[in-house]
Amino acid sequence: MSESRHTQTRLQHIENWDTEFEIVAGHVRRTASEEQTLNILEAGCGCAWDLDLQDVPYKLTGVDVDEDALRIRTEQRKDLDVAVVGDLRTVELAESHYDVIYNSYVLEHIPDAERVLDNFWRWLKPGGLLVLRVPDRNSVYGFLTRITPLWVHILYKRFVVGFREAGQPGVGPFPTVYDRVVSRGGIRRWCRRRGLAVRAEYGSNYYVNEVGVFSFPIRALVRLLHVCSFGRLAYDHSNLTYVLQKPPAAASQHGAPLRSEGVCC
Ligand SMILES: C[S@@+](CC[C@H](N)C(=O)[O-])C[C@H]1O[C@@H](n2cnc3c(N)ncnc32)[C@H](O)[C@@H]1O
Repeated sequence: MSESRHTQTRLQHIENWDTEFEIVAGHVRRTASEEQTLNILEAGCGCAWDLDLQDVPYKLTGVDVDEDALRIRTEQRKDLDVAVVGDLRTVELAESHYDVIYNSYVLEHIPDAERVLDNFWRWLKPGGLLVLRVPDRNSVYGFLTRITPLWVHILYKRFVVGFREAGQPGVGPFPTVYDRVVSRGGIRRWCRRRGLAVRAEYGSNYYVNEVGVFSFPIRALVRLLHVCSFGRLAYDHSNLTYVLQKPPAAASQHGAPLRSEGVCC
């Protein structure tokens, strides 16, 4: 686990879900102008959208590989302007089209996640924002998720977090892969390769506050594993949130052809 100098710097810490969405929505709002409708891509949209952008004119495109999730989204939430069933590695979307790409807890589920990031780079307009939310594979939480099977994640969500629908079609938890890019070092390296600016980097572990009586033993276990890993597994955060910006006049460096499989529903 060789980490670059950047990954040793302290993360800005986010205390809770509401604060995180305020911060992220603030970044998105600052890219908006009154005359322009923002083109937003929610990549791996699942069945719900968390951001409150009521004061911003925008058109929302959602892409997800899971038809059940997208059906719940289009039938119940009804907040997508365009819905596309497709795999983010291969789906065909317009290049340099989106002002904002929002990608929340998706990359850890995808083998070859860097291919998805490269597609984001191509789909973003010059100057566009990429908001990434991922668990850090090099945190204690990420490590435990990597070494345990899906049924353990389902039981954890149902009986520790108290999310009774966990495991039902379209709802998750979904199988995890944790490609190497899903870490602080991995994201930083990819940004350097593609020339994206890191506008903000946040860490959070507020999931521990949401597990009631399990909070204390989980915190103790996380500390213990941090020490046992000689400090290599982070205990102070489990999740990372990035606000990245494509350079305003980025030359197209990425020419890998994409296979078309987008299906609008
Ligand atoms: C944990 S959920 C997150 C959903 C939503 N973004 C959120 O934050 O609540 C992961 C989502 O990624 C989708 N997903 C996983 N692999 C994908 C892929 N290769 N292409 C598109 N979507 C994918 C899943 O179907 C699922 O809806």
